[in-house]
Amino acid sequence: MSVPKLITMAKIEASVLKSKFRGCLLGALIGDCTGAPFEGDTITHGDKLVIQRYYDKLEDPTFTAPYKSYTDDTAMMKSVAKFLTDKPEPDYRFLARLFVTEFFKEPKRGYGQNIVEVFHKLRNSKFEDVYKPAKEQFMGAGSYGNGGAMRIAPVALYFHDNYKTMLEVATNATKLTHTNILGVNGALLQSVAIQLAVKCDPEAKIDPERFCAELYRRMRKIERVEEDLDDIEEEDDGTRKAYQNKLRVVENLLQKKHDDDLDEEVILNLGNGISAYESVPTAIYCFLKALNEIPSIQTENVFRRTVQYAVSLGGDTDTIACMAGAIAGAYLGEDGINTALAKQCEYYRDVLEIADNLYVAKEGPGN
Ligand SMILES: *[C@@H]1O[C@H](CO)[C@@H](O)[C@H](O)[C@H]1NC(C)=O
Repeated sequence: MSVPKLITMAKIEASVLKSKFRGCLLGALIGDCTGAPFEGDTITHGDKLVIQRYYDKLEDPTFTAPYKSYTDDTAMMKSVAKFLTDKPEPDYRFLARLFVTEFFKEPKRGYGQNIVEVFHKLRNSKFEDVYKPAKEQFMGAGSYGNGGAMRIAPVALYFHDNYKTMLEVATNATKLTHTNILGVNGALLQSVAIQLAVKCDPEAKIDPERFCAELYRRMRKIERVEEDLDDIEEEDDGTRKAYQNKLRVVENLLQKKHDDDLDEEVILNLGNGISAYESVPTAIYCFLKALNEIPSIQTENVFRRTVQYAVSLGGDTDTIACMAGAIAGAYLGEDGINTALAKQCEYYRDVLEIADNLYVAKEGPGN
């Protein structure tokens, strides 16, 4: 991919950065809460009209309904934020405890069966080796679900100016539950996308192709490092270059004209499932596609378009919309998000507080 470099801000103003922290976590929450009712669905043309009306209503300030509940995505994201704000140095044992405590407090948040098994083992082993239970999953292969990626936003925000540490912390935090290289690299891709979105000027238009090319460049480096690992077969190019290949597909799909058939192609080639591999690149595609108008979606708002488009693909809607929403929110900031829509979500005010705490922990109280 030889496209000109992405234009990013050399220095981010304090007020803009603060707004981006809020936008990112709020974006994740909204994607999670509003996407959850459609989880597991196959979406027809008629359903897309239903989804359009659903978001029209949610954006109407006079519309009142019970809160949309958040799921495991937000529950775990909450713990990741606390892990960063409550300790001066990353303490992964502390993070494992936070995950487990949160789970046993509210187990009915839609956690997957495998992660529940990890939580039980962690608790039963008294957190002796916090990486062991996840490592043992799938007969030692580890999980490649999207659970690492869906909760990673606070790490990308906190280390937005320290790329190397961001990747390390994201890796370690993911390995508490997902040790398969596809699960880990999926979380890395999501954090790289958020970090890059933070650096993009919300007043300037992002060129989707350039953004994608930059992600590709970075994933090539990340996946190259993994080439040395002996647990990946030399000939297994599909795994070694999994995310690079997916980003090429993203680039290719971005160039196609939109119609209903294209959505089918997106689902077929990028996926809408619970594996990181079949959902993180999809979330990135949703964000990049929604930077421009989508004929089937009536809204002027990029954030809403991102989330609504993600949900309209069906499958693991809450997590894909959560990840896409986090990237869009990190780019646009809080101002890019309709407040009426945000207020439909359970935990809306708490998430703003979490974002502010994270910002203060990072930048200091005077900023
Ligand atoms: C990540 O984990 C490794 C292995 O436990 C450790 O050596 C490293 O210091 C950790 N990195 C960070 C940034 O916490």
